[in-house]
Amino acid sequence: MSNSRPGPEIADNVDLCLVHRLRRNRKAEWARRLVRENVLTTNDLIWPMFVAAGDNLRTPVASMPGVDRQSVDQIVRSAVEAAELGIPAIALFPYTDNALKDAEGSEALNPDNLVCQAARAIKKEVPEVGVIIDAALDPYTSHGHDGVIADGRILNDETVARLVRQSVIQAEAGADVIAPSDMMDGRVGAIRDGLDAAGFQDVQIMSYAAKYASAFYGPFRDAVGSGALLVGDKRTYQMDPANGDEALREVALDVEEGADMIMVKPGMPYLDVLHRVKKEFGMPTFAYQVSGEYAMIEGAARNGWLDGDKAMMESLLAFKRAGADGVLTYFAPRAARKLRGIA
Ligand code: PBG
Repeated sequence: MSNSRPGPEIADNVDLCLVHRLRRNRKAEWARRLVRENVLTTNDLIWPMFVAAGDNLRTPVASMPGVDRQSVDQIVRSAVEAAELGIPAIALFPYTDNALKDAEGSEALNPDNLVCQAARAIKKEVPEVGVIIDAALDPYTSHGHDGVIADGRILNDETVARLVRQSVIQAEAGADVIAPSDMMDGRVGAIRDGLDAAGFQDVQIMSYAAKYASAFYGPFRDAVGSGALLVGDKRTYQMDPANGDEALREVALDVEEGADMIMVKPGMPYLDVLHRVKKEFGMPTFAYQVSGEYAMIEGAARNGWLDGDKAMMESLLAFKRAGADGVLTYFAPRAARKLRGIA
């Protein structure tokens, strides 16, 4: 039996008489430029960097090809590069020696830890670059969790007390923005109070407000050395990827508690959440194109499976279309070079 049956003759031309031909506005580059709704600029980029101990040292992160852990002197050079490229801000994450890790993440409260050293050095050399530092314990804990644990449970309020101290210490080192990435309840308000009480009324809070328990953080955990240590998963504090309405509740609370800026994380698989958050709150809203998203694009590009530059720029523009005011992305320097025509 055959699937084909005799049909009408196929004409060479159909006279559609269309009033609307959307292709007209796409007919040439000038026309496409004219009707373009969204643009990406260097002002939209935040460059996350990994700080490691040592001198004049850059160590590649295997699962993030093209990204290095950098010693403080190198981080300063990268911050200078960020300034030259017109990237407004960088985000610092530490690779902490396992010997310095303990169950409470004490190193987070060391005013001379890697991120504090880096913040001081950057603020001395390139004060015009915004410095964002996470408030979270996971790069410092021996179990890889973002908080302190008792009987296998991540303790909320005890963790928040530590995050407040961590935030003040980071502000003292020169952090312009504290970015709570831990997903404990009530931490934004507590950090705001703590910063204000310590005289840091001008230090902003960029809250990882809707942060999901995601498999896309894998390479980051390699980069900060927490992946191999992580006991269990983070699902009792990070959000269930199945939930959208809950993200709005998370954001509402953080806004109420005094967040200056809101973040949705991960990025690409959560553009719907980003869009809803921006629409509902009209807050300065950021997306984190996380390590796993970077690894997917860069890994495929390095295998010749897609055009890396095009995929990078398309993915970043998609964040703007979805409503982001900016994007944390490991592509920041490359995208900035491309935008400035020097790549
Ligand atoms: C720490 C933190 C994580 C990321 C940013 N801050 C990892 C995690 O929560 O496990 C992920 C960033 C990335 O994957 O690029 N709480």
